[in-house]
Amino acid sequence: MKLAILGPPGSGKGTQSTKLAHRLGIKHISTGDILRTAVKDKTPLGKKAHEFINSGQLVPDELMIGIVKERIAEKDCKNGFILDGFPRTIPQAQMLDKNIALDQVIFFDVSEEECSRRLSSRQICTQCGQIYNPTTRPPLRAGKCDKCKGPLATREDDKPETVKKRLKVYREQTEPVVEFYKQSERLSVMGKSGTPDEIFEYLVNLVESHERGRAAGRA
Ligand code: AP5
Ligand code: MG
Repeated sequence: MKLAILGPPGSGKGTQSTKLAHRLGIKHISTGDILRTAVKDKTPLGKKAHEFINSGQLVPDELMIGIVKERIAEKDCKNGFILDGFPRTIPQAQMLDKNIALDQVIFFDVSEEECSRRLSSRQICTQCGQIYNPTTRPPLRAGKCDKCKGPLATREDDKPETVKKRLKVYREQTEPVVEFYKQSERLSVMGKSGTPDEIFEYLVNLVESHERGRAAGRA
């Protein structure tokens, strides 16, 4: 199964795609995580991407398209994958259309106010990237990751002024991608609100009912 999850910063893409990939036995590919690892390791990609990420801008398409094209061609993506944070521009969506057929694109329709509220208190593990929040997903021990015991920190791009910029960039460059998939009838909208666990159950239903629809269409 090949899926993509779209949605504004803070809409829960990372929280849900990690769990969904695990449930479906497919690979979770987060372009944000790939970039943050590159920045941490000071690779040539990380050096190029750092300024864009920290100023809330998108990393240029020519870089992102190459990275994702190579990543989805790897062996571990053979059974399928969930793209989290890609595509975010029309050229990125067009590249995917040329190279693979996505089975479903899910749009997390969450208000900007709610996204900003969530991002103002998000923490992530600096070692494994696990996502936390003091209200909806607190760690068992304050400041420590449940999974790998790594230290938790706030993301550099979660400063209020950078979040504002990211939301603006999302409106201008990624909302047209939502429209692009709506027109080609591959879009499912997740418009529910609830706890992360409740959203996960809705999401699983959304994926399963889409799969049943596709299977019926093939029969
Ligand atoms: P990326 O890492 O993809 O950031 P983003 O899209 O801005 O989204 P976030 O990761 O901030 O939010 P999320 O939707 O994953 O929410 P989360 O699950 O963490 O990209 C970062 C940067 O990299 C970009 O700005 C850009 O520079 C660059 N980049 C990446 N991809 C690119 C691309 N394709 N092209 C160009 N540049 C690219 O949840 C947020 C918080 O809410 C957490 O605290 C969580 O615990 C909490 N939460 C989750 N669900 C709920 C719920 N239901 N109720 C209450 N709280 C909840
Ligand atoms: Mg994320």
